[in-house]
Amino acid sequence: MDHTFDLVIVGAGGGGLMAALEALRTNPQTSVAVISKVYPTRSHTSAAQGGVNAALANKDKDDTVELHVFDTIKGGDYLADQDAVEYLCSQAPLVVRELENLGAPFSRFPDGTIAQRPFGGTVKDRCCYCADKTGHTLLHTLFEQCLRRGVKFFNEYFLLSLEHDDGECQGVVAINMRSSAIEAFSARTVILATGGHAKMYWNRSSNAAGNTGDGQAAAFRSGISLKDMEFIQFHPTGLRKSGLLVTEAARGEGGYLLNRHGERFMARYAPQKMELGPRDLVARSMETEILEGNGFTSAAGSYLELDLRHLGAGTIKKKLPQIRELSMNFEGIDPIEEPIPVRPTAHYSMGGIDVNMAQTALCGIYAIGECACVSVHGANRLGGNSLLDILVFGKLAGREAALEAPRRASRPVSPHALKNAAAEIKSYISHKRYERYGIMREEMGKAMADNAGIYRTEVKLRQAVEDISTLRDRFRHIRLFDTGTVYNTNLFQILELKNMLDLALCVSMTSLERQESRGAHYRDDFPRRNDNAWHKHSLCTQSSDGDVKLCSTAVTMGKYGLEARSY
Ligand code: FUM
Repeated sequence: MDHTFDLVIVGAGGGGLMAALEALRTNPQTSVAVISKVYPTRSHTSAAQGGVNAALANKDKDDTVELHVFDTIKGGDYLADQDAVEYLCSQAPLVVRELENLGAPFSRFPDGTIAQRPFGGTVKDRCCYCADKTGHTLLHTLFEQCLRRGVKFFNEYFLLSLEHDDGECQGVVAINMRSSAIEAFSARTVILATGGHAKMYWNRSSNAAGNTGDGQAAAFRSGISLKDMEFIQFHPTGLRKSGLLVTEAARGEGGYLLNRHGERFMARYAPQKMELGPRDLVARSMETEILEGNGFTSAAGSYLELDLRHLGAGTIKKKLPQIRELSMNFEGIDPIEEPIPVRPTAHYSMGGIDVNMAQTALCGIYAIGECACVSVHGANRLGGNSLLDILVFGKLAGREAALEAPRRASRPVSPHALKNAAAEIKSYISHKRYERYGIMREEMGKAMADNAGIYRTEVKLRQAVEDISTLRDRFRHIRLFDTGTVYNTNLFQILELKNMLDLALCVSMTSLERQESRGAHYRDDFPRRNDNAWHKHSLCTQSSDGDVKLCSTAVTMGKYGLEARSY
């Protein structure tokens, strides 16, 4: 079955839904479809716990947009484009109030204003929250509004390719996961909002199983560059066994990090900000403690402790209920009684599809949120700025796409695109020499965690490039054993693996190339930031033979010059 819309949005997380809503508010005549491989309220936005930053000045009365801008630029180790950061932070109070007006149930101060808590790497307390379920509540609020406005949802559709005709948007090809029908979605404009790719670190990640970079990989294969792929954020506090997120809000509310000597070790690494240093710094400090033997040992590996007991049962139950639930369900520990075992976990992709304020290099095609690199986060994102990013740039892209769609000619997706997709899937079934998905997926996760993790060196990164390149070669023989047509999960896993392998090669190659340490990218062999050589964005493009080509582009500076970064 073929479909035709003015705007097709791929991804039903907060960014995709905000874009859909804004497109319809801009022009109610716009026909808008949202396609998503999961039911919208299961999107990964629901896992964003701690909050969304906005200089509302409800807590710290002297907070300003300008302070938010500077925190973000400094937090990103001066790699962020300053015009984009200015836009992000100036829009923040507007979008948070907008979500409030749409019905989002923000936590409140006694005077009725939206409550704000401290978050890492900031000079003021500006993180607005809904207990520790902020993403979940914003996602539900947006979903209700999209239903009210008549957005057409295609749930459980998996993106296969992004289609364009000589740089002009045609639409996308997707497979209906329920029936295995391959369908064309012709569209005058497309917005990619497919989320991040940190699941390539597999079982050392806070990401949902579906965060496999499907939009990034489709964009890459269609000729769009990926930017700053070397920058992967490790969140300091993942649960020891599962890597699930324990929100920074736990430290914002006053939680301590302890090593096995009972020491609040952050005093040695960030004496002023302590546990509320920026994420790159706190995650590195924790990894150092573990590597130096100061961690606790367990069958599930070394870990540190996050102690919340002094906050008291009342605060934990009211402000951190989900953290308590996750700790009890996944570690068998009640944080009211015992410290939580934690260690850093791959959490966020600062890099992604190269865009200029949401617009890609192809006409009519946009990308937003974690799948895109605007770049507002630079080399290290501040906690609370990702929900903000999806709201601000989702709104911008939705508006721009709705204005642009009537001006663009309709270019249907070519029937060849459907045939090519079907042929590729058929080839997985017919491979005689075969590779197995499960084994390759484990090997990819290990290659990335061991050699492209928090501490990187040339030797490790060369190994990562070699391992991922070999896996990409082996992928040509991957075998689809399940030939069923109803919810063929083996097929979707294979497609996701293909996407992650392409992106993992970009991550490891750009990490090898960047011979300096900046933000989340730390090279033991080049431990200092080197602005003369490396103050630039990296770009990856796919060459005609499928290889990755590297080049670079300038950082947009503004009123803030380069400075040393300390906390
Ligand atoms: O720690 C957290 O709640 C995560 C927030 C974020 O990544 O922005």
